[in-house]
Amino acid sequence: MTEMTPPAKPRPNAVTPPLPWKTRFYLAILSAVTDTARRSNGTVNRRFLSFLDARTPPSATPLHGVRTTDVTVDTSRGLRFRLFVPVDSDAHESLPVIIFFHGGGFAFLSADSRAYDAVCRRICRRVGALVLSVDYRRSPEHRYPAPYEDGTDVLRFLDHGGLASADAAAARLADLATCFLAGDSAGANIAHHVARRWAAGRASGEWERVRLAGMVLIQPFFGGEERTEAEMRLPNAPIVSVERTDWLWRAFLPEGDDRNHEASNVFGPRAGELEAALPEALVVVGGFDPLQDWQRRYYEGLRARGKAARLVEYPDAVHAFYVFPELKESTALMEEIKAFVDGHRSPPIHG
Ligand SMILES: *[C@@H]1O[C@H](CO)[C@@H](O)[C@H](O)[C@H]1NC(C)=O
Repeated sequence: MTEMTPPAKPRPNAVTPPLPWKTRFYLAILSAVTDTARRSNGTVNRRFLSFLDARTPPSATPLHGVRTTDVTVDTSRGLRFRLFVPVDSDAHESLPVIIFFHGGGFAFLSADSRAYDAVCRRICRRVGALVLSVDYRRSPEHRYPAPYEDGTDVLRFLDHGGLASADAAAARLADLATCFLAGDSAGANIAHHVARRWAAGRASGEWERVRLAGMVLIQPFFGGEERTEAEMRLPNAPIVSVERTDWLWRAFLPEGDDRNHEASNVFGPRAGELEAALPEALVVVGGFDPLQDWQRRYYEGLRARGKAARLVEYPDAVHAFYVFPELKESTALMEEIKAFVDGHRSPPIHG
């Protein structure tokens, strides 16, 4: 099961990737917006962001072959997810379920942000899966472990049959024995930690229906006190420069704690044992992402602990490349996710 893609040609000295000017421009805007929204006292100007973070409403009318609806899990904390259902699926089909966590450094964006609505729609359509994009609580208003708890509670909601009352047609399609946790950046960090919570619960017999078949971790946001080679080589990278990630960790980790906390430095000095039931991971790394060394260490850490894992490297990819469908790596990533999901589906039941 475990394999590695052929090593891609490294570009050890380049600091800027070959990108279309439109993508470059959008990345610069994105970085500038988050820089303006985050304050030096560690808070986020939500009012300012609400003007700039374009939202897409759910749509019962299919758009590109996918219908969407928002499902509330817990009103008291505003926990909900956006459900993406492929409309051309045969009513007797059984589809894998991908629980997705959006990126944004734990602090920014949401399931209805336009870019993430579009990403999840693409995954839903290309992979042929139900996608649940979790609107977890964000930092600094809600720090560690709030999003991990939110993700685990979405799994509990599914395990207790919550989908049937929210969307009966989708519930009939959902194969809860073939669930995947997926996410990008901070969302991939959340996926890892929610998978650990699921695996711990499995050891104590908590889960009746939900079984995790794999994790899809796209450019996961991990870190530590150390500065890695890539962090030093790419100090001005868009979105995840060292200065920005330091701010984001300070906003997320328990007050006064440091980046060697187990939430960020998952295999660092304070890491505990990994749960036996942790499913196989697909780890996606970009050659222009300052976080790449942490991501490779994560992959190697899994392997060193006897876990199945697959590493995919895109040498020309910047952080957040997958929100730009014009990039060839975005298309390639969809194919990877589809192959990974198809390779982990439960065998069809005969008779
Ligand atoms: C942080 O700064 C903003 C804007 O200057 C202010 O409105 C807010 O009350 C401050 N928050 C804290 C916790 O200091």
